[in-house]
Amino acid sequence: MDRNQIKLLVRQMTLKEKAGQVTQLPSRYFQVEGSQLTGTESKLGITEEEKWLSGSILGKMDAKSMRRIQAETMRRSRLKIPMLFMTDIIHGYQTIFPVPLALGCSFNPKLAEKSAAVAAREGSSAGYQATFSPMVDVVRDPRWGRVMESFGEDKRLNADFGSAMVRGYQGENLKEPQTLAACVKHFAAYGAVQGGRDYNGADVSEYLLRNQYFPPFQACIAAGAKLVMAAFQALNGVPATANRWLLEDVLRTDLEFNGTVISDWGAVPELIRHGVAEDEAEAGEEALRAGIQIEMATAAILKNIEQYVKLNSEIEGLLDQAVESILLLKDELGLFENPDRGVNPARERKELLSRENKEAALEAAWESAVLLENNGILPLPLEKPVILAGPYAQSRKILGPWSVDGITEEAVSVAEGIRGRGGNLSCVIPLGMEEISEEEIKKTVRAAKQTKMAVLALGEPEAWSGEAGCRSEIILPAAQCRLVKELHENGIGTIVLLFNGRPLDLRPIQPYADAILEMWFPGTEGGNAAADLLYGTVNPSGHLAMSFPYGSGQIPVFYNMGSTGRPKELLEEEPRYKSQYLDIPNTPLYPFGYGLSYTTFEISFCGEIRRKQDGTCLVPVKVTNTGKAAGKAVVQIYMRKIRSKTARPVKELAAYRKVMLQAGESICMEITLEPALWNYWIPNLGWTKEPGLYRIMIGTDSRCSEACCDLIVE
Ligand code: GLC
Repeated sequence: MDRNQIKLLVRQMTLKEKAGQVTQLPSRYFQVEGSQLTGTESKLGITEEEKWLSGSILGKMDAKSMRRIQAETMRRSRLKIPMLFMTDIIHGYQTIFPVPLALGCSFNPKLAEKSAAVAAREGSSAGYQATFSPMVDVVRDPRWGRVMESFGEDKRLNADFGSAMVRGYQGENLKEPQTLAACVKHFAAYGAVQGGRDYNGADVSEYLLRNQYFPPFQACIAAGAKLVMAAFQALNGVPATANRWLLEDVLRTDLEFNGTVISDWGAVPELIRHGVAEDEAEAGEEALRAGIQIEMATAAILKNIEQYVKLNSEIEGLLDQAVESILLLKDELGLFENPDRGVNPARERKELLSRENKEAALEAAWESAVLLENNGILPLPLEKPVILAGPYAQSRKILGPWSVDGITEEAVSVAEGIRGRGGNLSCVIPLGMEEISEEEIKKTVRAAKQTKMAVLALGEPEAWSGEAGCRSEIILPAAQCRLVKELHENGIGTIVLLFNGRPLDLRPIQPYADAILEMWFPGTEGGNAAADLLYGTVNPSGHLAMSFPYGSGQIPVFYNMGSTGRPKELLEEEPRYKSQYLDIPNTPLYPFGYGLSYTTFEISFCGEIRRKQDGTCLVPVKVTNTGKAAGKAVVQIYMRKIRSKTARPVKELAAYRKVMLQAGESICMEITLEPALWNYWIPNLGWTKEPGLYRIMIGTDSRCSEACCDLIVE
């Protein structure tokens, strides 16, 4: 249908039918067994007949339920408008990929695109038509549990990975049954909640919003994302759900979004608790007026629409726009032609957890892992006997938060991975996450003395991150740190594998571990990936997408901070009056972009920067693998504007490239700096091109110590 036909259809709808279309109800209200809660419980207060007016359903469902619900919907619907089924497919459907923060560490957006395409093939075969993904909130506070869901602290990584996932989910044509509509979230600045505590308010200057928080959404919108989800929290005092400046002026006008805007779970009536609505009726009206077009998990608009229109007829125009947007989406998905669009039990049997899909998940887990420390103990010789101990030694709970439809039993544990790869595992000692007794430590040390080598699989429980999984301290449980120290003090070679959803304070184990490999929550193939990386079958190539602070007291710490008028590094001789802590360094324990390899790389410029008419610059970079093992280098280019109208960050990631190099191999390549890099949002001026002097720095992490040169932009 074209837009006119959609408008005609809307004109035939009653007020209640239209209000039904903007209502999205949890699947459990449709007697779907096993549907999971991903938000607060709420009593709907609507009739059975009103319930069946809803235009979309969210949450865990199976193909049979979706077919049943769709048939009942089409039977009841006077105008034969099909139901839309949405769910949280965040980092895989049944084949689970590494959590997005891990994927961001791969510095390889193609892996994200592939992971989304696999997830779309699997999720659509089960009958889903849209997913609440990608999440592209820039994050700077690892106390916040949802950092695992983001692509980290940098706007470019969030933009590149988020838009890659949009392309992966949506493919070339949404009418293709193996695709999913993408919903980019949470608009905006949800990652800036105060104190790293979920749902708290966020006070973010427009300067930061425009330059850091909005760009990833702009990239996802440009990639064609069909929906945008408003964030839970208040932004500069106005809840995003009722924030017309955010949802209309910025999202629609500035970012040119013309898709559908959905609230988060229960966020409409939560306007009452925010203190900006008297009751549910007012909350629904506030949301509708601000630009919310689908109300998730509650029915304020459905229950009060007659009253709204009676008091103010122009609100029906907003309702019509919302319904048009939803019907357009359903039409783009081909639901009017085939309401059971993707549901395909035969395809489902073939797709779910297929070998091809698992191989894609394994590749992603390889490239997402970050080698933080290695004194040469890794890679391990396959025949070398080791013990394996820790809470994640044989645990399958490595899928991570937001793996709603993942199957834990299908995950490969570290023990299985090592055994499966032919590793010489002398014994496996599962241990508690927080409780490790004296006896257990002694038993582990005794066993390790036989092999002189121990692999410890440590970390946080899955529930300590994810939504509402916020921690005031970002440390490993003390018992785990004690174990590392004990083994070290007994002369045992100690290799630590980490399974966690956020950057951690690793100071307690850093002095005692001979190697630290950050696996994050690596997904279904996690154990196999860990074994391949331990034995060097695969060379680690991940680089941190988020800084690891030197303890919670250093939060927020991120690579692209401003200089200040008294930068510590420029005032060495000044004993006190400079920007510093008296008790810890200013720099994080591990910086953004950092990651080790089993080989070494040298990076340098190999010529002059070439300029194009349109302002594009081509930076000639030479990379040499100076070690003995093949490996993937992540060349990072940072830039700094020398003298600007604002105190800009001391560096910003301008471009990056990941390249495989054999031992001894060198290549020269040109890395593109796009013209948009020379624009910056300046208060009272808006987006402004800033010509003049830029410092261009290259390296394999944000310390970018390899080389730099000056670039004059016209
Ligand atoms: C949750 C999350 C959101 C998710 C939605 C549906 O509360 O904030 O990211 O997509 O509800 O489950």
